[in-house]
Amino acid sequence: MLQHFFNPSSVAVIGASQNPAKIGYDILNNIVQYGYGGAIYPINPRAPEILGHKAYPDLASVPSEIDLAVVAVPAAAVMGVLEQCGKKGVDSLIVITAGFKETGPQGARLEEELVTRARELGVRVVGPNCLGIIDTAGDLNASFAAGMPLAGRIGFFSQSGALCVAILDWALGENVGFSRFVSLGNKMDISETEVMLSMGQDENTRVILGYLESIEDGPRFMKAARQVSKTKPIIIIKAGTTSAGAKAASSHTGALAGSEHAYQAAFKQSGIIQAESTQALFGYAMAFASQPLPKGRNLAIITNSGGPGILAADACDRSSLHLIPTRKETADRLREFLPSTASLYNPIDIIGDASHERYEKTLEVILKDELIHAVLILLTPTAAVDPEAVAQGIVGLAKDAEKPIMTAFMGEKRVRGARKIFQDHAIPAYDYPEDAVAAMDAMLSYRRWLEEPERQHQRFEADTGKARKLFASVVKQHRHDLIESEAREILKAYGFRLPESRIARTTKGAVRAASEIGYPVVMKIASPDVLHKSDMGGVRVGLETDVMVEEAFFDITSNIQLRQPEARILGVMVQEMIPQGKEVILGITRDIQFGPMIMFGLGGIYVEVLKDVAFRIAPLSVEEADAMIRDIRSFPLLRGVRGEAPADIEGIRDALLRLSQMAIDFPEILEADINPLLVCPEGQGAVAVDARLTIQE
Ligand SMILES: Nc1ncnc2c1ncn2[C@@H]1O[C@H](COP(=O)(O)OP(=O)(O)OP(=O)(O)O)[C@@H](O)[C@H]1O
Ligand SMILES: [Mg+2]
Repeated sequence: MLQHFFNPSSVAVIGASQNPAKIGYDILNNIVQYGYGGAIYPINPRAPEILGHKAYPDLASVPSEIDLAVVAVPAAAVMGVLEQCGKKGVDSLIVITAGFKETGPQGARLEEELVTRARELGVRVVGPNCLGIIDTAGDLNASFAAGMPLAGRIGFFSQSGALCVAILDWALGENVGFSRFVSLGNKMDISETEVMLSMGQDENTRVILGYLESIEDGPRFMKAARQVSKTKPIIIIKAGTTSAGAKAASSHTGALAGSEHAYQAAFKQSGIIQAESTQALFGYAMAFASQPLPKGRNLAIITNSGGPGILAADACDRSSLHLIPTRKETADRLREFLPSTASLYNPIDIIGDASHERYEKTLEVILKDELIHAVLILLTPTAAVDPEAVAQGIVGLAKDAEKPIMTAFMGEKRVRGARKIFQDHAIPAYDYPEDAVAAMDAMLSYRRWLEEPERQHQRFEADTGKARKLFASVVKQHRHDLIESEAREILKAYGFRLPESRIARTTKGAVRAASEIGYPVVMKIASPDVLHKSDMGGVRVGLETDVMVEEAFFDITSNIQLRQPEARILGVMVQEMIPQGKEVILGITRDIQFGPMIMFGLGGIYVEVLKDVAFRIAPLSVEEADAMIRDIRSFPLLRGVRGEAPADIEGIRDALLRLSQMAIDFPEILEADINPLLVCPEGQGAVAVDARLTIQE
């Protein structure tokens, strides 16, 4: 995949220049000086030869085939170069040049034209407005980056050229090597998805790292990531997530969802490790590129000082790692050589006067304990210790270790040498314990992703014909919001259980309806204009008698007339009262990048206060539905606390999967709320007592 971009047997540089101040010079110089072994063709109509290579006026005059072209000419001239590529049969082009979509509408138009023409000519394009591509295995530096990264196992792609430059400089300082380096630029053609797939196939790449500001074609990206992340870890930092997602949504779901939820969900569902900061991105990369994955969640901490040990323990508590208490056999072995003042129970504090021998002996014992899956070694540079000697000792023991080892030697001046030793021997060296714990936690969650069973998808009987007809009639009336009775029909078509309901236009009608349904009943205003009925005094629950029903009819209608006089009142809905149940909310909202997103959370009228919700991108698998339910803080309430019977969690799962199916079947659904879905005790199912649906043309 993208073969000619990474392993070209010949490269042409269009706009190659003799002038060192020009980008056209830097690119050619990078290709020449870093040992690229293929044919190099500088293209420059005025220079006969550049940097020792014969130059050609244009692509056509090059006597042999060209696999890859890199262009650094003014934006207006790029179309001409593309035409040349088409004629010459060059199928891979890197457009370094800026001055397209990123500059505004005119540039965007120019870029659109390029996209169309490139497709017609069958030329694949990286860029425009990018730094270029580097492939260390092929010694190819087709970029204007300052320097060549060391060869290594990390593949990196970035939507920001500037971040490429920063990472390159960081990597050279940290002795971290890369297999491939791709600056995506404006992604007019080749996007993160293809680059990720190509790195997935690249045997030199062990860890994939990415910086993204947007994702083209979310579902395709997720599919590719799921495939690749089953073989190698993908760590991505997504910038620009905190945009105000809560647009003026009419539903609770829309109000609670933001694009960052969509990204978090998409990453979670495709095994991508999300880095929250550039520091975390680097920190995770260091760990994944050099250490084996932990076989379990048990972490042991070795430290020569209490404070950092406690900080690490706190971070551990906030993660999914477990600070396993040291078991007796191990403690006995430690007691043989540790002073009596040492603390043996994890964190293992070997005291401030610890020497490198004491560190080594302790680590040796800990590495032998098979109940311990990962080790974090902390050090503060007390007068008694020689940090470099400790580092050497750890390096020696780590060689045969099958568990991940991480270090956080705190300070700077006295530990710099030790950190260098770790960098030279591919042992992650963090400045702070929390960063090490975060990296270890990321490795653990990746291990769990790899162990996840194949996703199961469930499909339900659904009367899609009826639903389609109903949506069409709403659109024909130029409406977007379905009235409650219509929303109920859609849910019925998808097999949801609903309470018996009737709309009454008079008090008498309401009493008749109530006696037909059977007491107790609930009554609600039936109006297409009243969004949140309770807020308007439009709901009465627990009505036991005819008199209560009459009063409720009066109360509800007069409340609405008072508080929302313009509202059209269709009547009052009389509804079977569902006796007992946990109130949860289910919803659909549509994310521009990833499509339909399903929300689940603690429901009822306080939903926007509690905000205890979880999101996943549709279609949901059975496992993802279960994971969403477990994700919310109040999951224990659903399982039943204080002697309460557990709620019908299977009923919730079933409802989530039906809603996901509906969202996929009908792209016209913009937002939906089922709030509440009343979840009865285990085995008794769940009932959708209130629903809202908004559609788009
Ligand atoms: N059929 C029912 N059985 C039992 N309780 C019910 C029923 N219908 C409604 N309720 C209770 O009344 C509350 C409000 O009703 P409903 O959800 O229909 O109104 P709403 O104010 O429009 O809701 P929302 O906050 O979703 O806009 C529910 O959260 C639930 O506690
Ligand atoms: Mg409601």
